[in-house]
Amino acid sequence: MPAVIAAINGKGGAGKTTALMNIAGEYALRGRSVGLLDIDPRSNLMKWWSDCHDKGNQAEGLDVFGPKTGKAIAAFFESKANVFDYVLVDTPGEDTSIIDGVIARTDLVISPVQPSKREVVGAIECLEVVRRVNKTYGAACRHGVLKTRITLPVCHTELYRKIRPIIVEHAGTYLFKTEVHERNVYKDIHSGLGTLQMQAVTPAIAKARRETLALVEEIDSLLSGEEGSSVEAG
Ligand SMILES: Nc1ncnc2c1ncn2[C@@H]1O[C@H](COP(=O)(O)OP(=O)(O)OP(=O)(O)O)[C@@H](O)[C@H]1O
Ligand SMILES: [Mg+2]
Repeated sequence: MPAVIAAINGKGGAGKTTALMNIAGEYALRGRSVGLLDIDPRSNLMKWWSDCHDKGNQAEGLDVFGPKTGKAIAAFFESKANVFDYVLVDTPGEDTSIIDGVIARTDLVISPVQPSKREVVGAIECLEVVRRVNKTYGAACRHGVLKTRITLPVCHTELYRKIRPIIVEHAGTYLFKTEVHERNVYKDIHSGLGTLQMQAVTPAIAKARRETLALVEEIDSLLSGEEGSSVEAG
């Protein structure tokens, strides 16, 4: 059985696709097999993968699939998912009914948020869906919020300071200690350059690699139950 991780925030542009590309690249580097599922009708992940193909940059150990309906997603999990160590699901930046079926098969939902009210609200709405699905299916999907596109000026904003109390104390979910910073390489890899881990190591890339490594270590401890708690069904 693969470990299943989904990036979900119904408010678009929070960095879901980018986070999954980086996480997938890290697992592939460790020699693990990763199936990426692009269920977003805009198919950004599929386009990235096809651009990587055209430029000879497809990472070894990764495969990308594009089921767009609940039925096609179910068929993937029934017939293909088991050959992978990890299945990572990229979802649309809008609320959609197929999300329930994804969460029911997922071990960990990550909601990326840029420090904007809209996206923090989107992450809390996602947590509520995870709670509802856990209750309905008797599942134990975990949930965590990942701060993304962090810059120095952002760190001085009131919303940035409020994220922890809102997410941890008020909403009662996990907040990743690792923050994803605003970095050019995260934009660059979208144009078919392969994964972060395939880029020649410069000081800037090394920082991005360390950040991604820290994120994946946190994900691993969440998946193993060492950190955070599963989202209560109630
Ligand atoms: N940490 C980052 N640093 C710099 N650019 C970033 C970062 N994260 C995302 N981006 C850029 O922001 C844009 C949106 O990111 P991404 O596609 O990952 O978000 P998304 O949540 O998947 O969006 P959508 O909901 O539209 O699918 C992309 O152009 C990406 O290159
Ligand atoms: Mg996306």
